[in-house]
Amino acid sequence: MREVAVFGAYGHTGRFVVAELLARGFVPVLSGRNAERLKALAVAEGGLEARPAAVDDPAALDRALAGTAAVINCAGPFADTAGPVVEAALRAGVPYLDVAAEIEANADTFDRFEERARAAGAVVVPAMAFYGGLGDLLVTAALGDWASADEVHIAYGLDSWHPTAGTREAGAVSRRRRGGRRVRYAAGRLEYRDDASPRLTWQFPEPMGPREVIGEFSMADIVTVPSHLDVPDVRTYMTVRAAEDIASPDTPAPVASPADGRGRSDQTFLVDAVVRRGGAERRAVAQGQDIYAVTAPLVVEALDRVLSGRVRTTGVASAGEIFDAVDFLGALSGHLSVELSV
Ligand SMILES: NC(=O)c1ccc[n+]([C@@H]2O[C@H](COP(=O)([O-])OP(=O)(O)OC[C@H]3O[C@@H](n4cnc5c(N)ncnc54)[C@H](OP(=O)(O)O)[C@@H]3O)[C@@H](O)[C@H]2O)c1
Repeated sequence: MREVAVFGAYGHTGRFVVAELLARGFVPVLSGRNAERLKALAVAEGGLEARPAAVDDPAALDRALAGTAAVINCAGPFADTAGPVVEAALRAGVPYLDVAAEIEANADTFDRFEERARAAGAVVVPAMAFYGGLGDLLVTAALGDWASADEVHIAYGLDSWHPTAGTREAGAVSRRRRGGRRVRYAAGRLEYRDDASPRLTWQFPEPMGPREVIGEFSMADIVTVPSHLDVPDVRTYMTVRAAEDIASPDTPAPVASPADGRGRSDQTFLVDAVVRRGGAERRAVAQGQDIYAVTAPLVVEALDRVLSGRVRTTGVASAGEIFDAVDFLGALSGHLSVELSV
């Protein structure tokens, strides 16, 4: 069975996911709260099925998932959508994957559903996306035969970041939940702080080289990595230019580059994952184009692996725990270039 429900299908990321599903022979079933926008997308994609559903309408969510093999949730803020859509997936008995980049919402998914999902033999994969998923795969691959590490660092080398409305809204919801504080993962737990984030120079691999970054610019990896790896400190970093882009209300939303056949923007990224144990260091680096677009091959590859039984566990699990990280990254060679120095 190849039907896959996409909740939030007409959003910027949802559209990339729908296109990727079609490219890989799945049949997307379009869902979300706006019936008109769903219908327009269904027609534009050559006659897909549209099943409108709001998150406060469990019966409509059940209809949206009926007969599908899995659901991919692309509708954020996930603080609002993850709980109801995971519940619907558990009722339907199908796997759930999402692209949430909200630290607290991701932590909630682990806390609220871990026991029930495991007991039911269900699979729930939160943050199966650029933030949260890719970093976790890189860290897990870099660890190699190490069962633990003293420190994990993931530096995001983005040349720019033109955020979607969904990114801005998710950020605003997370900031409200934190009462304006910032969060980091240190000494084995999420820690909320009032001081300013450090600013430092990060030595990215060539050709990027040294760049100014905001330290402890925390992304979903501070939930996904420690969810399954024995590591007390997980730090993430963001190039200052990209951090300034998303802080400014004037930065435009992403647009497709006319030169790109896949609808990607010109944005480029380099993700530098460094793990340290004792005096030793291992590294995994990924490079590619457009953080929203690359989320689609990440989540659809994950879906394919879940549906074909290529998983290492059940319950709520992040990418690095549930998949063979090195094999997974290798399968994305058409979308990412990855270098491992283990
Ligand atoms: N982890 C990552 O790397 C990563 C990558 C890509 C995206 N994301 C996240 O994914 C989310 C979507 O991003 P986007 O780029 O696709 O943004 P977008 O283009 O603004 O789309 C947001 C989508 O979510 C829907 N939505 C919002 N609240 C909803 C609710 N309460 N019920 C039902 N639908 C709701 C919107 O529907 P309406 O138009 O009807 O409001 C729209 O379809 C964001 O939270 C973003 O942070 C994360």
